[in-house]
Amino acid sequence: MFSKLTAQAPDKIIALIAQYAADPRGDKVDMGVGVYKDAQGRTPIIRAIKTAEQRHWEAETTKTYKALIGDGVFISGMRGLVLGDVAADRVAGAQSVGGTGAIYTLLDLVRTIEPQARVWMSDPTWPNHAAIIGHLGLASRSYRYFDAETREVDFEAMRADLAGAGPGDVILLHGCCHNPTGANLTLAQWEEITDMALAQGFLPFVDFAYQGFGDGLEADAAGVRAMASRVPQMLIATSCSKNFGLYRDRIGAAMVLCETPATAALARGTMETLNRVHFSFPPDHGAALVASVLSDPALRADWVAELEGMRLRMLSLRTGLADALRREANDDRFDFIARHRGMFSRLGASPAQVERLRAEHGIYMVGDSRMNIAGLPEDRLDHLARAFVSVGL
Ligand code: LMR
Repeated sequence: MFSKLTAQAPDKIIALIAQYAADPRGDKVDMGVGVYKDAQGRTPIIRAIKTAEQRHWEAETTKTYKALIGDGVFISGMRGLVLGDVAADRVAGAQSVGGTGAIYTLLDLVRTIEPQARVWMSDPTWPNHAAIIGHLGLASRSYRYFDAETREVDFEAMRADLAGAGPGDVILLHGCCHNPTGANLTLAQWEEITDMALAQGFLPFVDFAYQGFGDGLEADAAGVRAMASRVPQMLIATSCSKNFGLYRDRIGAAMVLCETPATAALARGTMETLNRVHFSFPPDHGAALVASVLSDPALRADWVAELEGMRLRMLSLRTGLADALRREANDDRFDFIARHRGMFSRLGASPAQVERLRAEHGIYMVGDSRMNIAGLPEDRLDHLARAFVSVGL
């Protein structure tokens, strides 16, 4: 049976982790996988999470099962974090295995109801979106999103493509901090996409994995909340990997905004069933920690402050690199790096230039020239700028 298997193409982001680890150069630079790093290149455990973990270890008396849907305090805490008080009684939430698990559950929910649904992705998008959609056997389309010249959102093109979407179409949007480009919708553009959803009847699906990494926890949620306050239905996938630093604990939440509280109860029941067939009970540890941080005012304030520090560090790395490139290139063509938000920017290098950066300078980024801004070495930005310019950027 297994001899029928074919070799799988590795995910290009994950493949980079091993390639970087195998490079013996001491001055190599890792701007690959989307993991936050501090000035020392470490990915620290968030202070409030560590405290919650200590308390949890002392207080926990059993490892017996909790609920199929997950931890109720966690789910309502995440709903509040993402949506504030928008439409609370119409949202069904379920705990998921990371942000990826939330995307998978929500698309499986769509498939359960509407196997013929088409899922529209931005061009470009996170590669796992297409992989999950394909794995579930759903049809996909793409819409133009990024202007390679200006490195901004090509909103005219996006709107023109989405004009062809209607009922039965799911439109996958990035809530903030677009991965891989770093170019984001304005609030006015969110409102326009909302108008289109209302007029055309498509279902918005927001992948919201980087809340707090762009303009701040509240500002990053403005577009999602504006949309949720007006549309009858919507899907949201959230992740605690980045903003709570819980990467390996695999914790996220799937949310379904429904027309009525009664429909939300149905969606909740179906997600419970989906959890049961996917993995039964979701892993509790990360959810319990996030629930404690969100519901304890002191822990929450400490988490918000630390997250804000991470965000500001990424912003200063952005301006630092843009300044270094302005000096090195003697013009402002790289200023988009300072305008972008979140963990990533697409540099606009060709695959050959990306390969030269790796081979000649030990600089690692994804083949489409997505840079993880948190991986920038703050004391060597001039060196990086010289390398970028030396490969013809
Ligand atoms: C990324 O885009 O690098 C992260 O979301 C990690 C991943 O799973 O791809």
